[in-house]
Amino acid sequence: MDEFKKEILEYAESFTSDESSVLRELREHCYAYYEDSSMLSGFVQGRVLSMFSRMIRPRVVLEIGTYLGYSALCFAEGLVDGGKVITLDVNEETNKVARSFVEKSEYKDRIEFHLGEGATIIPSLPETFDLVFIDADKPNYSNYYNLVFKKVRRGGFIIADNVLWSGKVLEEEKDENTQALHDFNLMVQADDRVSNVLLPIRDGLMVLCKL
Ligand SMILES: C[S@@+](CC[C@H](N)C(=O)[O-])C[C@H]1O[C@@H](n2cnc3c(N)ncnc32)[C@H](O)[C@@H]1O
Repeated sequence: MDEFKKEILEYAESFTSDESSVLRELREHCYAYYEDSSMLSGFVQGRVLSMFSRMIRPRVVLEIGTYLGYSALCFAEGLVDGGKVITLDVNEETNKVARSFVEKSEYKDRIEFHLGEGATIIPSLPETFDLVFIDADKPNYSNYYNLVFKKVRRGGFIIADNVLWSGKVLEEEKDENTQALHDFNLMVQADDRVSNVLLPIRDGLMVLCKL
């Protein structure tokens, strides 16, 4: 990251409300022990997700890609009374860690974990979603979008992370993940059932509302 961008990010961080102690502990645990810690949403993006949730006040959030539970805990902050976050992931090891941090939080009864393939679990969920966060394997983004779409209420939202893929979506030659994310962006942009905005926050957030 160049010096200007770094300073701007630090400035943004210094004018952003703090996260809870559990979220801070979880982030520090991740940076200390995980080589793939860049998968975690991070402080500013976490606060953005929490703010979206506070604005939407969802009853049911579906998250595809739990990792260590950081973003699930951020979304939980905006739930209405009695609301829940359903989060799913294939990784048993990270799931155990996620559960242990959620257990320490005030949202321990509001986050429901599912372990398994996203594409298998989603069709089995009976709920209607107010908000869906797509943040798992990139080649399946369009698949996840199509699987969840009919389960999102009209006026509900879908947010997809990493849609700029470190800027690689601009390159002529695209690897599998980059092509999948670019195809996802093209599909959303051409979908007249939604209103969408691609926010260049962190690695890119596609935010869309089902009309
Ligand atoms: C980028 S991380 C999620 C980060 C988390 N949402 C956050 O912001 O802190 C992606 C997660 O997707 C999971 N994943 C990968 N392939 C999957 C699949 N087929 N079904 C469900 N989860 C999958 C990985 O195990 C990983 O934990």
